[in-house]
Amino acid sequence: MGKPKLVISSGAGISAESGISTFRDAGGLWENYPVMDVASADGFRRNPELVHKFYNARRRDLVTKEPNEAHRLLAELEKDYDVYIITQNVDDLHERAGSSNVLHLHGELMKIRSVSDPDYIETLDPDHLDTTPATRGKRGDLMRPHIVFFQEAVPNIEPAINLVEQADVFVVIGTSLAVYPAAGLIHYVRHGVPIYYIDPNPATAAIGMEGVTIIRDKATAGMEKLVKILTHAS
Ligand code: APR
Repeated sequence: MGKPKLVISSGAGISAESGISTFRDAGGLWENYPVMDVASADGFRRNPELVHKFYNARRRDLVTKEPNEAHRLLAELEKDYDVYIITQNVDDLHERAGSSNVLHLHGELMKIRSVSDPDYIETLDPDHLDTTPATRGKRGDLMRPHIVFFQEAVPNIEPAINLVEQADVFVVIGTSLAVYPAAGLIHYVRHGVPIYYIDPNPATAAIGMEGVTIIRDKATAGMEKLVKILTHAS
């Protein structure tokens, strides 16, 4: 009998205390950028230069940031649980905090992929973070940000659903539950499996849902409370 499966669904809120903007909070990313111009398939077709520039700026910002205590506590929980992280975030803070199993639903900022072959992916060198529409990979392919734009499919949603269906504990942390299919993962939790939702301003959709315990805190404070609950219980 292995360790119990702890499945996490994280959003931008877990990286807020690392100094990375969320999307829909006051002053969030979508307040300052027209989302359909910089993060949609149509926007990328219309003006690829603008889209490359938008992700170049976010990469340059990311490399100046560090994981916070919430990321680190999640990594430490691997001592007591089989921890699987499903994240909507494109930052690499979960990985840099030491989490072993991280599944990105919306892509990865530090990676680029072939425009013609979505399975051909390269990790950017920290010294060469900027890309343009003319950027070519080592194989010669024209490359694009390895990001799932709005209007594009979310290839990792199937494996994510499989993970949630196997969870013995499910934790949602720092997401407004505004974007599908990620927001729908909570409905795949088996009946009777405890769900914890850590967010200072939790989405009303989840409040009152059967089996959901709301921890109305920021990620670091909320994770400290959750660790006490989970490690005391085990
Ligand atoms: N700790 C925890 N949660 C926080 C914190 C914090 N310090 N600060 C804000 N939050 C919460 C907000 O209350 C909100 O519920 O984080 C959530 C941020 O919501 P969004 O900005 O909508 O981010 P997210 O849910 O991850 O967005 C989903 O939308 O634009 C797309 O692809 C993008 O992956 C993103 C997706």
